[in-house]
Amino acid sequence: MLACIYEAKGKFVLGEKPKPEILEPGDAIVRVTLASICTSDLHIKHGSVPRAAEGITLGHEMVGVVEAVGSKVTKVKPNDRVTVNVETFCGECFFCRHGFVNNCEDKNGGWALGCRIDGGQAEYVRVPYAQQGLNRIPDEVRDEQALFVGDILATGYWAAKIGEIKPGDTVFLIGAGPTGVCTLDCVRLKNPGHILVAETDPARREYVRRRYPEVKVIDPELEDPAAAASALSGRGGADVVIEAAGTEKTFAMAWKAARPNGIVVIVALYDHPQILPLPEMYGKNLTFKTGGVDGCDCDEILELIRQGKIDTTGLITHTFPLSRIMEAYELFEQRKDGVIKVAVKP
Ligand SMILES: NC(=O)c1ccc[n+]([C@@H]2O[C@H](COP(=O)([O-])OP(=O)(O)OC[C@H]3O[C@@H](n4cnc5c(N)ncnc54)[C@H](O)[C@@H]3O)[C@@H](O)[C@H]2O)c1
Ligand SMILES: [Zn+2]
Ligand SMILES: [Zn+2]
Repeated sequence: MLACIYEAKGKFVLGEKPKPEILEPGDAIVRVTLASICTSDLHIKHGSVPRAAEGITLGHEMVGVVEAVGSKVTKVKPNDRVTVNVETFCGECFFCRHGFVNNCEDKNGGWALGCRIDGGQAEYVRVPYAQQGLNRIPDEVRDEQALFVGDILATGYWAAKIGEIKPGDTVFLIGAGPTGVCTLDCVRLKNPGHILVAETDPARREYVRRRYPEVKVIDPELEDPAAAASALSGRGGADVVIEAAGTEKTFAMAWKAARPNGIVVIVALYDHPQILPLPEMYGKNLTFKTGGVDGCDCDEILELIRQGKIDTTGLITHTFPLSRIMEAYELFEQRKDGVIKVAVKP
């Protein structure tokens, strides 16, 4: 079968691999019907994901149809349409039982698919712990609507949840890339009083303005985000800040724009360590929350999509057949032609 393979640092190739088979009783084989490319795939390419194994098939954001299941899998059956979770988790260890599935103690726990084991930019994918890793897509929901459930939408849902947003809060979101926009969809469901979005890319600012007229969108290079957040909340800054951009500037922007005793959620990954200038922050009494997504709310997210409360289909700006995935990578990496997300059809 066709598969997009991480050959070595800086090199992805489209090649042939054998069709995967059930290896463990908890496995399922999924025929991929739609996959996507994620910013994290580019992090692998650039060598900033040390755990990524050379030779693996890439791809951790996909939907498909169950082809076969191992003897321990009862939640899904052949022919079910499913989303695949970016994280592999056993469901039984201390961390899984507490919902911290990103830290599952299994050797493949956390982000393994398309990183340490073969992923879904291919015709078929083997999903370990399928009981946890697969979620059935409701019949009314199309593949395009469900494509981001297992990764960036799970991330947005998790970020809004751990941000502890209360009705009426002022929420400041930094970065309106695909993850930022998925987060925005989930933040809105918490009924905040005001949402402020900072984004440097004019096309992405325009995207948010057009689709979310109630959101205040600023260019942080022209308008001071801390002052804007303070003006909206009337209490010295945003109640909740979510940083989904990932630069030194945006890390500083995040804590500066939070009100005293606010919550700062760091979703972004950074290429370098960031500095918390504690003397400057003294007295602000902030709570920081950081980490990798705990992607265990996918059934809830699929239900919200079914009800029309979350719709991320507008993020798919381009679709390519798997045979042309290298062109899709080029477009996505160079941010050409107004690309936000690329869908790939095996
Ligand atoms: N924690 C997790 O589990 C998890 C999951 C998914 C993604 N991520 C991370 O989230 C981040 C966002 O992902 P993405 O796919 O949306 O990436 P992206 O690079 O497309 O989005 C980042 C956005 O931030 C904007 N930006 C850059 N500098 C800015 C500034 N100074 N002010 C305002 N906006 C600025 C960019 O223009 C871009 O639109 C990445 O770091 C990614 O690795 C984390
Ligand atoms: Zn991803
Ligand atoms: Zn576990």
